[in-house]
Formats: sequence, C-alpha cells, structure tokens
Amino acid sequence: MTLRLGDTAPDFTAESTKGTIHFHDWIGDSWAFLFSHPADFTPVCTTEMGRTAQLADQFERRCVKPIGLSTETPESHLKWIEDVNDTQNCALDFPILADADFNIAKLYDMIHPGESETAAVRSVFIIDPDKRIRLTMTYPMTVGRNFDEILRAIDALQTSDNRTCALPADWKEGDEVIIPPSIPNERASELFPNGWEELRPYLRMAKL
Ligand code: BEZ
Repeated sequence: MTLRLGDTAPDFTAESTKGTIHFHDWIGDSWAFLFSHPADFTPVCTTEMGRTAQLADQFERRCVKPIGLSTETPESHLKWIEDVNDTQNCALDFPILADADFNIAKLYDMIHPGESETAAVRSVFIIDPDKRIRLTMTYPMTVGRNFDEILRAIDALQTSDNRTCALPADWKEGDEVIIPPSIPNERASELFPNGWEELRPYLRMAKL
C-alpha cells in the first residue's frame, strides 16, 4: 500500500515487547515515531535501537512515542534488547513490534523487493496526534538513520504547526523562520509582531 503525507496512518493490532499494541489507541494524544528494521541481532539495527533508547528524554520532551518494528517474534526482540542495552549502554524501554508475518510491513510498504524480498527496509513514519502521516524517510539496509535529523524534522513539524510558519533549509531551533507566501502582511503582523526581513515579497524571514 502506498502511503502519502497527510494520509491516516493505517491502524493495526500487533504483539510487541510491551504486549499487545492497538496502534491508534497506543499513540493517543502523542506523536509517534514508527521505525522499521530488517532483522534482530544485526549491527546497524542494534546501533539505531540503542540511539533511540539514549534519546528517550528528547522524544518525551517533544511528546513523541518511539516504536520500533522488526519482522521477528517478541521473544527474539526481548533477547536482542539485552544485547542492545549491553553494547549501546542504554536501557531500551519503548515497544518493538513483532511483525514475523509481515502484516505491518506490507501495510506500510516497508518491503522493497529491490533491497530484499524477506526483510523490511529502514522506514520512518512521523505520525501526529490526529494519526496523520506527517513525514516519511526510507533508508537502505546498510545505512543507519541520522537521529539528529529525525529530531530536527520533528521540531520543524511542530514549530510549523504551532507558529504558522515554514522552515528554511537546515533550520534548527532558534533559527529564523519563513512567513509562508499564503499569509498577507496584515496577518503576518499579528503572527510576527516583532516584524520580519523581506528579502523578496515571497521570502520573508522572521524571528520567533
Ligand atoms: C544491519 O542492521 O546491520 C543490517 C541488516 C540487514 C542487512 C544489512 C545490514
């Protein structure tokens, strides 16, 4: 199934390392970071699981619940978590979905036959509290994801939602934002009372 930005994230019920997960209920009023892995006990995946665990407070600060997925059983995941904690110096406490029958991997188009017929690629879905897919990324099996970018993208999405703005290339918290061209100057004055710099009529930069 092809999923696009703005689509409702498909709901599912599945077993995990934290018991049965009813996905939409589990997300609740939070955001979700759903990320898939080719297999348990593999090196790149181990570092990604560890990094997510190390960043638990960063995800929590943004009201984002991480949830991993690998196409193996809960028992295998639980054994693997012991290795993740040992080797990555962390205490992994988020659920890992057990998708041994590939139900979720197929639902979310995580199987890319050009990479592998039998394992999920490294997909990322950032899902908002309305259960809409707001951002996706797809990495191949051999390349670990950049978690600074994942957090930056979440910050950008939440800032865009909360402050009616767009974010320029390489934006990070504290940088200037863009006043979207759809907002006339009169409305922009209300949203950005400290003013803005107009580089072009379509390119207005403001401090938050
Ligand atoms: C890894 O996580 O290291 C990995 C998994 C599957 C294929 C290649 C690398």
